[in-house]
Amino acid sequence: MMTVDTTPGNSASAGAGDAAGDTDEDLALRRQAPAEESSRASRHWWDRNADEYQDEHGAFLGDDRFTWCPEGLDEADAQLLGPTAELAGREVLEIGAGAAQCSRWLRAQGARPVALDISHRQLQHSRRIDLSRGDVPIALVQADAAVLPFADGSFDLACSAYGAVPFSADTAALMREVHRVLRPGRRWVFSVTHPIRWAFPDEPGVEGLTASASYFDRTPYVEQDEQGRASYVEHHRTLGDRVRELVAAGFTLLDLVEPEWPAELQQEWGGWSPLRGRHLPGTAIFVSERSS
Ligand SMILES: C[S@@+](CC[C@H](N)C(=O)[O-])C[C@H]1O[C@@H](n2cnc3c(N)ncnc32)[C@H](O)[C@@H]1O
Repeated sequence: MMTVDTTPGNSASAGAGDAAGDTDEDLALRRQAPAEESSRASRHWWDRNADEYQDEHGAFLGDDRFTWCPEGLDEADAQLLGPTAELAGREVLEIGAGAAQCSRWLRAQGARPVALDISHRQLQHSRRIDLSRGDVPIALVQADAAVLPFADGSFDLACSAYGAVPFSADTAALMREVHRVLRPGRRWVFSVTHPIRWAFPDEPGVEGLTASASYFDRTPYVEQDEQGRASYVEHHRTLGDRVRELVAAGFTLLDLVEPEWPAELQQEWGGWSPLRGRHLPGTAIFVSERSS
Protein backbone atom coordinates (compact mmCIF):
# COMPACT_ATOMS: atom_id res chain seq x y z
CA MET A 1 0.00 0.00 0.00
CA MET A 2 1.21 3.45 -0.74
CA THR A 3 0.04 6.90 -1.46
CA VAL A 4 0.44 9.12 -4.38
CA ASP A 5 -0.21 12.77 -4.58
CA THR A 6 -1.75 12.84 -7.99
CA THR A 7 -2.11 16.53 -8.21
CA PRO A 8 -2.57 18.03 -10.77
CA GLY A 9 -4.86 15.29 -12.05
CA ASN A 10 -6.54 13.53 -9.24
CA SER A 11 -5.42 10.81 -7.12
CA ALA A 12 -4.81 7.24 -7.26
CA SER A 13 -3.90 4.76 -4.73
CA ALA A 14 -1.20 4.02 -2.46
CA GLY A 15 1.46 6.05 -3.56
CA ALA A 16 4.51 7.44 -4.73
CA GLY A 17 4.95 11.11 -4.79
CA ASP A 18 5.92 11.48 -1.18
CA ALA A 19 8.51 8.75 -1.00
CA ALA A 20 12.26 8.95 -1.17
CA GLY A 21 13.89 8.26 -4.49
CA ASP A 22 11.52 10.40 -6.49
CA THR A 23 13.13 13.50 -7.76
CA ASP A 24 11.35 16.80 -7.44
CA GLU A 25 11.76 17.22 -11.18
CA ASP A 26 9.46 14.28 -11.94
CA LEU A 27 6.29 15.51 -13.53
CA ALA A 28 2.90 14.10 -12.49
CA LEU A 29 0.33 13.80 -15.23
CA ARG A 30 -2.33 11.58 -16.77
CA ARG A 31 -1.26 9.79 -19.92
CA GLN A 32 -1.23 6.33 -21.45
CA ALA A 33 1.43 3.96 -20.12
CA PRO A 34 1.75 0.63 -21.94
CA ALA A 35 2.42 -2.62 -20.13
CA GLU A 36 6.17 -2.73 -20.62
CA GLU A 37 6.67 0.87 -19.54
CA SER A 38 4.43 0.35 -16.50
CA SER A 39 6.30 -2.78 -15.40
CA ARG A 40 9.68 -1.16 -15.80
CA ALA A 41 8.59 1.90 -13.85
CA SER A 42 7.17 -0.24 -11.05
CA ARG A 43 10.27 -2.37 -10.74
CA HIS A 44 12.58 0.60 -10.56
CA TRP A 45 10.32 2.67 -8.34
CA TRP A 46 9.80 -0.09 -5.80
CA ASP A 47 13.48 -1.00 -5.79
CA ARG A 48 14.35 2.64 -5.07
CA ASN A 49 11.61 3.18 -2.50
CA ALA A 50 11.36 -0.17 -0.72
CA ASP A 51 13.55 0.92 2.19
CA GLU A 52 11.51 4.02 2.88
CA TYR A 53 8.24 2.14 2.42
CA GLN A 54 9.21 -0.49 4.96
CA ASP A 55 10.58 2.16 7.36
CA GLU A 56 7.41 4.17 7.17
CA HIS A 57 4.80 1.41 7.11
CA GLY A 58 6.57 -1.62 8.57
CA ALA A 59 5.21 -1.05 12.08
CA PHE A 60 1.63 -0.86 10.82
CA LEU A 61 2.06 -3.85 8.53
CA GLY A 62 3.70 -5.92 11.24
CA ASP A 63 6.19 -8.65 10.39
CA ASP A 64 3.57 -11.37 10.36
CA ARG A 65 0.24 -9.56 10.17
CA PHE A 66 -2.11 -9.99 7.22
CA THR A 67 -3.88 -6.69 6.82
CA TRP A 68 -5.79 -5.88 3.68
CA CYS A 69 -5.70 -2.08 3.79
CA PRO A 70 -4.97 1.18 5.62
CA GLU A 71 -8.32 0.71 7.38
CA GLY A 72 -6.60 -2.18 9.17
CA LEU A 73 -9.00 -4.95 8.21
CA ASP A 74 -7.13 -8.13 9.12
CA GLU A 75 -7.58 -11.50 7.45
CA ALA A 76 -7.69 -13.04 10.93
CA ASP A 77 -11.01 -11.24 11.47
CA ALA A 78 -12.41 -10.98 7.94
CA GLN A 79 -11.56 -14.51 6.77
CA LEU A 80 -11.96 -13.52 3.14
CA LEU A 81 -9.75 -16.43 2.07
CA GLY A 82 -12.15 -18.79 3.82
CA PRO A 83 -12.10 -20.07 7.39
CA THR A 84 -8.66 -19.61 8.94
CA ALA A 85 -8.91 -23.12 10.38
CA GLU A 86 -8.93 -24.46 6.81
CA LEU A 87 -5.72 -22.72 5.67
CA ALA A 88 -3.41 -25.44 6.93
CA GLY A 89 -1.69 -27.20 4.07
CA ARG A 90 -3.02 -24.80 1.42
CA GLU A 91 -0.64 -23.66 -1.29
CA VAL A 92 -1.07 -19.90 -1.49
CA LEU A 93 0.29 -17.38 -3.98
CA GLU A 94 0.70 -13.85 -2.63
CA ILE A 95 0.99 -11.39 -5.51
CA GLY A 96 2.82 -8.08 -5.04
CA ALA A 97 3.88 -9.35 -1.64
CA GLY A 98 6.39 -6.65 -0.71
CA ALA A 99 8.15 -7.93 2.43
CA ALA A 100 5.72 -10.87 2.56
CA GLN A 101 4.10 -9.94 5.84
CA CYS A 102 0.83 -11.55 4.72
CA SER A 103 2.65 -14.73 3.69
CA ARG A 104 4.27 -14.91 7.10
CA TRP A 105 0.81 -14.80 8.74
CA LEU A 106 -0.42 -17.47 6.32
CA ARG A 107 2.51 -19.70 7.18
CA ALA A 108 1.74 -19.30 10.87
CA GLN A 109 -1.70 -20.77 10.08
CA GLY A 110 -0.05 -23.81 8.50
CA ALA A 111 -0.40 -22.67 4.86
CA ARG A 112 2.40 -22.97 2.31
CA PRO A 113 2.80 -19.49 0.82
CA VAL A 114 4.87 -18.30 -2.12
CA ALA A 115 5.49 -14.54 -2.12
CA LEU A 116 5.85 -12.98 -5.56
CA ASP A 117 6.94 -9.43 -6.28
CA ILE A 118 8.48 -7.52 -9.15
CA SER A 119 10.90 -5.69 -6.85
CA HIS A 120 14.07 -7.38 -5.71
CA ARG A 121 14.53 -4.84 -2.93
CA GLN A 122 11.07 -5.45 -1.52
CA LEU A 123 11.80 -9.17 -1.42
CA GLN A 124 15.12 -8.51 0.32
CA HIS A 125 13.08 -7.01 3.14
CA SER A 126 11.28 -10.32 3.45
CA ARG A 127 14.64 -12.05 3.90
CA ARG A 128 15.69 -9.39 6.41
CA ILE A 129 12.58 -10.03 8.52
CA ASP A 130 13.02 -13.80 8.41
CA LEU A 131 16.69 -13.55 9.35
CA SER A 132 15.93 -11.20 12.25
CA ARG A 133 13.40 -13.71 13.60
CA GLY A 134 15.54 -16.78 12.95
CA ASP A 135 12.75 -18.13 10.73
CA VAL A 136 13.05 -20.38 7.72
CA PRO A 137 12.83 -17.95 4.78
CA ILE A 138 9.49 -17.52 3.03
CA ALA A 139 9.62 -18.85 -0.55
CA LEU A 140 10.16 -15.82 -2.79
CA VAL A 141 9.77 -15.31 -6.54
CA GLN A 142 10.77 -12.16 -8.37
CA ALA A 143 8.47 -11.82 -11.37
CA ASP A 144 5.92 -9.61 -13.04
CA ALA A 145 2.39 -10.64 -12.09
CA ALA A 146 1.44 -10.30 -15.75
CA VAL A 147 3.38 -13.49 -16.53
CA LEU A 148 3.26 -15.84 -13.57
CA PRO A 149 6.08 -18.40 -13.69
CA PHE A 150 3.98 -21.32 -12.47
CA ALA A 151 2.30 -24.31 -14.06
CA ASP A 152 -1.48 -24.38 -14.50
CA GLY A 153 -3.39 -25.23 -11.34
CA SER A 154 -0.47 -24.80 -8.94
CA PHE A 155 -2.28 -23.04 -6.07
CA ASP A 156 -5.24 -23.43 -3.72
CA LEU A 157 -5.50 -19.69 -3.06
CA ALA A 158 -4.22 -16.40 -4.47
CA CYS A 159 -4.22 -13.10 -2.64
CA SER A 160 -2.91 -9.58 -2.95
CA ALA A 161 -3.05 -6.68 -0.52
CA TYR A 162 -2.57 -3.64 -2.74
CA GLY A 163 -0.04 -5.66 -4.71
CA ALA A 164 0.48 -5.67 -8.46
CA VAL A 165 -3.12 -4.97 -9.52
CA PRO A 166 -3.08 -1.15 -9.24
CA PHE A 167 0.22 -0.96 -11.09
CA SER A 168 -0.47 -3.24 -14.04
CA ALA A 169 -1.58 -1.93 -17.40
CA ASP A 170 -3.42 -5.06 -18.49
CA THR A 171 -5.31 -6.31 -15.47
CA ALA A 172 -7.67 -8.34 -17.67
CA ALA A 173 -4.62 -10.43 -18.60
CA LEU A 174 -3.46 -10.50 -14.98
CA MET A 175 -6.84 -11.95 -13.94
CA ARG A 176 -6.47 -14.64 -16.62
CA GLU A 177 -3.00 -15.48 -15.32
CA VAL A 178 -4.26 -15.86 -11.76
CA HIS A 179 -7.13 -18.01 -13.05
CA ARG A 180 -4.65 -20.23 -14.88
CA VAL A 181 -2.43 -20.91 -11.85
CA LEU A 182 -5.35 -21.54 -9.47
CA ARG A 183 -7.13 -24.86 -9.09
CA PRO A 184 -10.85 -24.90 -9.98
CA GLY A 185 -13.16 -23.71 -7.23
CA ARG A 186 -10.37 -21.82 -5.43
CA ARG A 187 -10.34 -18.22 -4.24
CA TRP A 188 -8.61 -15.12 -5.58
CA VAL A 189 -8.90 -12.15 -3.22
CA PHE A 190 -7.29 -8.76 -3.82
CA SER A 191 -7.50 -5.27 -2.40
CA VAL A 192 -6.99 -2.03 -4.29
CA THR A 193 -7.61 1.63 -3.71
CA HIS A 194 -11.36 2.10 -3.95
CA PRO A 195 -11.96 3.31 -7.51
CA ILE A 196 -14.06 6.26 -6.33
CA ARG A 197 -10.89 7.77 -4.85
CA TRP A 198 -9.69 8.51 -8.37
CA ALA A 199 -12.26 11.31 -8.54
CA PHE A 200 -10.75 13.06 -5.51
CA PRO A 201 -7.40 14.71 -4.71
CA ASP A 202 -5.22 12.26 -2.80
CA GLU A 203 -5.05 14.44 0.29
CA PRO A 204 -5.90 13.39 3.84
CA GLY A 205 -7.50 16.75 4.72
CA VAL A 206 -10.67 18.55 3.63
CA GLU A 207 -9.23 19.19 0.17
CA GLY A 208 -9.48 15.44 -0.33
CA LEU A 209 -13.26 15.56 0.05
CA THR A 210 -14.18 17.48 -3.09
CA ALA A 211 -14.30 15.62 -6.38
CA SER A 212 -11.94 17.17 -8.89
CA ALA A 213 -11.69 14.59 -11.67
CA SER A 214 -13.89 12.13 -13.49
CA TYR A 215 -14.34 8.70 -11.93
CA PHE A 216 -14.77 7.45 -15.49
CA ASP A 217 -11.41 8.70 -16.76
CA ARG A 218 -9.25 5.56 -17.04
CA THR A 219 -6.15 7.45 -18.15
CA PRO A 220 -3.27 6.21 -15.98
CA TYR A 221 -1.57 8.38 -13.39
CA VAL A 222 2.07 8.75 -14.38
CA GLU A 223 5.14 10.42 -12.95
CA GLN A 224 7.85 10.90 -15.52
CA ASP A 225 11.41 12.17 -15.62
CA GLU A 226 12.83 14.95 -17.76
CA GLN A 227 13.22 12.54 -20.69
CA GLY A 228 9.54 11.64 -20.50
CA ARG A 229 10.24 8.16 -19.09
CA ALA A 230 7.70 6.94 -16.58
CA SER A 231 9.13 6.62 -13.07
CA TYR A 232 5.82 5.65 -11.44
CA VAL A 233 2.50 4.47 -12.85
CA GLU A 234 -0.89 3.59 -11.44
CA HIS A 235 -3.83 2.32 -13.46
CA HIS A 236 -7.49 3.00 -12.79
CA ARG A 237 -10.48 0.74 -13.34
CA THR A 238 -14.03 1.46 -12.28
CA LEU A 239 -15.81 -1.02 -10.04
CA GLY A 240 -17.69 -2.30 -13.07
CA ASP A 241 -14.44 -2.75 -15.01
CA ARG A 242 -13.01 -4.87 -12.22
CA VAL A 243 -16.09 -7.08 -12.04
CA ARG A 244 -16.12 -7.55 -15.82
CA GLU A 245 -12.43 -8.47 -15.87
CA LEU A 246 -12.92 -11.06 -13.16
CA VAL A 247 -15.98 -12.60 -14.80
CA ALA A 248 -14.36 -12.62 -18.24
CA ALA A 249 -11.36 -14.48 -16.79
CA GLY A 250 -13.63 -17.19 -15.36
CA PHE A 251 -14.16 -16.05 -11.76
CA THR A 252 -17.37 -15.69 -9.78
CA LEU A 253 -17.50 -12.62 -7.56
CA LEU A 254 -18.47 -13.71 -4.05
CA ASP A 255 -18.19 -10.40 -2.25
CA LEU A 256 -17.02 -6.82 -2.64
CA VAL A 257 -15.83 -5.55 0.72
CA GLU A 258 -15.55 -1.82 1.41
CA PRO A 259 -13.94 -1.62 4.86
CA GLU A 260 -15.15 1.22 7.03
CA TRP A 261 -12.67 3.37 8.91
CA PRO A 262 -12.59 2.17 12.54
CA ALA A 263 -13.50 4.89 15.03
CA GLU A 264 -10.39 4.18 17.10
CA LEU A 265 -7.91 4.28 14.20
CA GLN A 266 -6.03 7.58 14.12
CA GLN A 267 -3.11 6.58 11.91
CA GLU A 268 -3.03 8.16 8.46
CA TRP A 269 -1.55 6.46 5.42
CA GLY A 270 -0.95 9.03 2.73
CA GLY A 271 -4.38 10.08 1.51
CA TRP A 272 -6.15 7.65 3.87
CA SER A 273 -7.18 9.46 7.03
CA PRO A 274 -9.86 9.34 9.71
CA LEU A 275 -11.50 12.39 8.13
CA ARG A 276 -11.76 10.94 4.65
CA GLY A 277 -12.54 7.52 6.05
CA ARG A 278 -15.68 8.92 7.67
CA HIS A 279 -16.94 10.12 4.27
CA LEU A 280 -15.55 7.89 1.55
CA PRO A 281 -14.53 4.30 1.04
CA GLY A 282 -10.75 4.01 0.68
CA THR A 283 -10.36 0.35 -0.22
CA ALA A 284 -12.20 -2.20 -2.33
CA ILE A 285 -11.55 -5.89 -1.71
CA PHE A 286 -12.71 -8.30 -4.39
CA VAL A 287 -13.45 -11.81 -3.15
CA SER A 288 -13.73 -14.19 -6.06
CA GLU A 289 -13.61 -17.88 -6.83
CA ARG A 290 -12.43 -19.69 -9.92
CA SER A 291 -15.69 -20.92 -11.37
CA SER A 292 -14.46 -23.16 -14.16
C1 LIG B 1 1.76 -1.07 -2.21
S1 LIG B 1 2.90 -2.40 -2.21
C2 LIG B 1 2.04 -3.67 -1.34
C3 LIG B 1 2.98 -4.67 -0.77
C4 LIG B 1 2.36 -5.50 0.35
N1 LIG B 1 1.25 -6.27 -0.14
C5 LIG B 1 1.96 -4.55 1.46
O1 LIG B 1 0.76 -4.45 1.77
O2 LIG B 1 2.86 -3.89 1.97
C6 LIG B 1 2.79 -2.92 -3.90
C7 LIG B 1 3.73 -4.05 -4.26
O3 LIG B 1 3.38 -4.51 -5.56
C8 LIG B 1 4.59 -4.78 -6.25
N2 LIG B 1 4.32 -4.73 -7.70
C9 LIG B 1 4.03 -3.65 -8.45
N3 LIG B 1 3.83 -3.99 -9.72
C10 LIG B 1 4.00 -5.33 -9.78
C11 LIG B 1 3.92 -6.30 -10.83
N4 LIG B 1 3.63 -5.92 -12.10
N5 LIG B 1 4.15 -7.59 -10.56
C12 LIG B 1 4.46 -7.98 -9.29
N6 LIG B 1 4.55 -7.12 -8.25
C13 LIG B 1 4.32 -5.81 -8.49
C14 LIG B 1 5.55 -3.71 -5.77
O4 LIG B 1 6.89 -4.06 -6.01
C15 LIG B 1 5.18 -3.62 -4.30
O5 LIG B 1 5.96 -4.47 -3.49
